[in-house]
Amino acid sequence: MCGIIGYVGQQDAVQVILEGLRRVEYRGYDSAGIAIAVDGKLAVAKRSGKLGSLAAQLAEHPLPSSGCGIGHTRWATHGGPNDTNAHPHVSADGRVALVHNGIIENFAELRAELELRGVTFISQTDTEAAAQLLALELALTNDLTVAMRTVCTRLKGAFTLVALDTQNPECLVAARRDSPLVVGVGDGENFVASDVASFIMHTREALELGQNQVVTLTRNSVQVSDFDGEPAEPQHFHVDWSPAAAEKAGFDWFMRKEIFEQPRAVFDTLLGRSDAAGRLLLDEIRIDTNELRLIDKIVVVACGSAYYAGLVAKYAIEHWIRVPVEVELASEFRYRDPIVNSRTLCVTISQSGETMDTLQAIRHARVQGAKVIAICNTVGATIARESDAVLYTRAGPEIAVASTKGFLTQVSAAYLLGLYLAQLRGTMFADEVERYLTELSEVPDKIQQVLDQAERVYALAADVVDTQDFIFLGRHVGSAVALEGALKLKEIAYLHAEGFAAGELKHGPIAIIDETTPVFVVVPPPGAGQLHDKVISNIQEVRARGARVVVLAERGDVAAGSCADYLLELPPTSVLLQPLTASVPLQLFACELATLLGNDVDQPRNLAKSVTVE
Ligand code: M6R
Repeated sequence: MCGIIGYVGQQDAVQVILEGLRRVEYRGYDSAGIAIAVDGKLAVAKRSGKLGSLAAQLAEHPLPSSGCGIGHTRWATHGGPNDTNAHPHVSADGRVALVHNGIIENFAELRAELELRGVTFISQTDTEAAAQLLALELALTNDLTVAMRTVCTRLKGAFTLVALDTQNPECLVAARRDSPLVVGVGDGENFVASDVASFIMHTREALELGQNQVVTLTRNSVQVSDFDGEPAEPQHFHVDWSPAAAEKAGFDWFMRKEIFEQPRAVFDTLLGRSDAAGRLLLDEIRIDTNELRLIDKIVVVACGSAYYAGLVAKYAIEHWIRVPVEVELASEFRYRDPIVNSRTLCVTISQSGETMDTLQAIRHARVQGAKVIAICNTVGATIARESDAVLYTRAGPEIAVASTKGFLTQVSAAYLLGLYLAQLRGTMFADEVERYLTELSEVPDKIQQVLDQAERVYALAADVVDTQDFIFLGRHVGSAVALEGALKLKEIAYLHAEGFAAGELKHGPIAIIDETTPVFVVVPPPGAGQLHDKVISNIQEVRARGARVVVLAERGDVAAGSCADYLLELPPTSVLLQPLTASVPLQLFACELATLLGNDVDQPRNLAKSVTVE
C-alpha cells in the first residue's frame, strides 16, 4: 500500500514526481503529496483525495523549481485520509521531509518518547514519529544517511522511507525493511520508487535493494549500505516492460486493457519453458531436484485472486503428481500451526510479490524446513527473492486493482509447475505432458475468441444494471472460477456477490435465491461426463426457484444452452483448462457493470493494489 517516489536530477522534480505518482497511484489513493527543498526551506504540497486533487492544487499554486524531491500517494493505515495525515511529513524543526510506506508498529512508544523530549506532533500517523526522530538524529550527526540508519534500527514493523534534508537539498536517502523499494539509475539523474513503473519512461536500468538497507542518491551516485553502515552491493536488473505497457492505450480503464492483454500475457508466460530435451524449466531454481522428488505434500499460500488461482491449480497438480495439495489463505497460515516440514513444498502465488500476508507465510514455511517456490509477476520482488525458486508470470505491469491478467497467468504458471513436477517425479508419460503443453499453447487463441464476444457480455451488464445480488456457481475447477467472478464484482461494482461450489447450493445458500437473482453458472465441458451432467441438474434447481440463469458453456453444448436465460459460449477445452477461458466473461462483466454504475474501476474504494501490511 502507498506509492513512493524520490527524484534527483536535472529535470523539474515536481513534474517527474507527479508523473511517477500517477503510475503508482494504484497502490493507494486516499491522499497525495510532494516535497522539495529550495533555499534552505521545504516547499510541500499535499492534499486528501486522489492525485488529481493534488495536481489541480499544484496547477493553481505551483511549487518552486527544484531538481530533487519526494512524493507519496497514500492508503491510510494510521490516521484518516485528510490533508494533515497526507505525506510527506515534515519534522517540527522544518528541516526534514519524509514519506513512508508500511506500518511502524512501535510508533506509539516512539511518539510518547519524543513528546517527552518536547516534540509537538500535528498528525495521527505513525510516519510522523519517524520524521521527528530522523530530525533529532540529524541534528546530532548532520548526516542524513547516518541518521536514517539509526532511525531504522529503532523502528519495528515494515517500512520504506525516503527523506529529504533542506541543508543538503540535492541528495535523497531511502531505506527499506519488508516493504518494496527499487532504485532507477539514469544518466545524470536517479530515482527511488515503490515500483519501476514510476520511472521506466526515464530509465529501464534498476537496482534491487535488499532487506534492511539504506540508499543515498545524488544525481551521479548511488550508495547502498546496511543499517550498520556496511557497504552493500545491490543487484542490477534491466526492466523489460516498455513505458507503453503502463499506459491505457486508448482503453477507458487499465482493467479493461489488462483483460484484453490476456492472450499476450498467457502466451508470454508459456513461452520458452522447455529445453532442447523437452524438459520444463523454472526461472530461478535454488532447490535440489532430488528434494522435489521427495516431497509428500504441497501447500499453496496466497491471498485474494491469487488464492483462487491456487484453488484451480490444486485440481491439476493433485491429478498430475498424486501428492496432496492444500490451499491456504496466507493470512491464516502461520496462525494455525500448520503441519509443514522438509518434505513439504510451499507454493506461493503473488502478482505483486509484496503481499505481506504471503511474505510472512513464506517465512514461516521456511523456518519449518519447507522449500518455497514463488509464482510471481514482479521481477526481483521480495517474495521472489525470499523463495527457493521462482516462476515468473510475465504478465507485464498490472495496474488496475482488480486482478485479471495476473490471475490467468498465475493459473497458467501453476499448471507449468504441475507439469514440471510430474515430469521430474515421473508421474505422467511424456506424451501426456506434451498433450497438456499443446493444449496450453492454444489457450491464448481461445481467450481471444472469448474477448471477441465482449459486446454480448456488455449487453448482459446493461440488462442487469439495477440488480443488487449475484450468485456464481461452478464445480471442480469451476468452483474457484465462481469465487473469482464474485470477487471481481464485489471489488469494483460494490455489489453483493457470492460464489459457491454448485453442489453445495442445496445445503443452504439456495434459500437466498429468488426471481430477482442472476445466477452465473460455469458448466464443465460435455466431455467431463458426470461433472457436466451434475451441473446441468444444479441449473435446474435454481431455475425451479425462478432465478435468471447466465450459462457459461462450451460452444455447441445443447443441454447447457437449453436451460440458459442468457448463454455465453466458450471454446472447447479440457475441464482443467476451462478456468483460463471461463474467467474472462466474468471479468468483462464486472468491468462493464462497474463502468455503467459510474464507479472508478481502476481504483475502487477502500482498496489498494499491493497489500503490504498484515
Ligand atoms: O499481489 P498479490 O497477487 O499477492 O495480491 C493478492 C490479492 O491482494 C489480490 O489478488 C486481490 O485480491 C486483487 N485485488 C483481486 O482482484
